[in-house]
Amino acid sequence: MTYETLESGDPRDDNRAYRRALGHFATGVTIITARHGDQLGGMTANSFSSVSLNPPLIQWALGKSSQSLSVFSQAAHFAVNVLASDQVELAGHFARSGGDKFAGVEWQSGLGDAPLFKGVAATFECRTHSTIDAGDHYIMLGEVQRFSRNGRPLLLFAHGRFGLAVDYPAAAKESDANGNGTQITDTTLGLLWDAFSRLSTGFQAERDAEGMTITQGRVLSIVERHPEATTDAIARKAFVSPTAVDDAIAALLELGFAARRPNGSCAVTPEGLVRVLSLRRRAAAFEARQLAHLTPEELETARKVLKSLGAPEA
Ligand SMILES: Cc1cc2nc3c(=O)[nH]c(=O)nc-3n(C[C@H](O)[C@H](O)[C@H](O)COP(=O)(O)O)c2cc1C
Repeated sequence: MTYETLESGDPRDDNRAYRRALGHFATGVTIITARHGDQLGGMTANSFSSVSLNPPLIQWALGKSSQSLSVFSQAAHFAVNVLASDQVELAGHFARSGGDKFAGVEWQSGLGDAPLFKGVAATFECRTHSTIDAGDHYIMLGEVQRFSRNGRPLLLFAHGRFGLAVDYPAAAKESDANGNGTQITDTTLGLLWDAFSRLSTGFQAERDAEGMTITQGRVLSIVERHPEATTDAIARKAFVSPTAVDDAIAALLELGFAARRPNGSCAVTPEGLVRVLSLRRRAAAFEARQLAHLTPEELETARKVLKSLGAPEA
């Protein structure tokens, strides 16, 4: 197997390439909140990490251009809400800058009145310990005074895209009783996992053939279907960060698959349209090839089973 370096260099020369490399470090997703006087602050952040166990210190990086800067820099407490897999909309909502992000969102006051959201996977309520000036961010150190966890599945962030945590495939296989190597257990979950892994890996080659990344393909397809969509709206539809949308659009402009309209919004070019349609045709043809060995009756039954598992009848 050959391992090809896709991009390398000095971060100062190509900021986007640098951020793409940083995106190869997968994280969870949090919303960090605080209250100062009658002002609430909250933002989606994936820079959260544990620093010290004794004393219990955590840190996160707060962008200096953040609208919430004044709240976080003055509040004596902040709360880290670790998001669960079904809270991607909340993550997108709190990734927007400014405005009243808390209107219409259910929350309750934690220590220092920092907002805690319902249904999150874990919370860490902190006393603001110290702030370190670090380039275009401040490192916010917090001493954890109370934590909670509820074991819900987690929302993840990698490659600039939101994702889900699935157990390593080997967990769906187990050694047989005599220890004779490994054997796939015929559980429905194991079978679904194997099918999902094989199909999604196989489709990657189809995407690669169009010369676009997953995010670029998704963004181009959304711009084609929703020409008036804003960056935030595209980000929500594509399950990626607004920054990843900007990066994808810059790449699509460079590739000639998209062009700027006079009002600044984006339009798909004729060449881009050819690519979008080709990607959709590839998806349909790929699926048809994978299913070609099934009779129409088998296919109908398989679809029925999958649908019922995804959304069981009440
Ligand atoms: C997944 C994800 C992670 C983010 N992580 C951080 C972070 O760690 N620190 C930060 O300052 N901004 C981060 N951002 C960007 C902020 O959420 C975004 O700039 C937000 O608009 C800030 O809100 P504000 O300007 O109202 O304070 C992240 C965005 C996303 C989508």
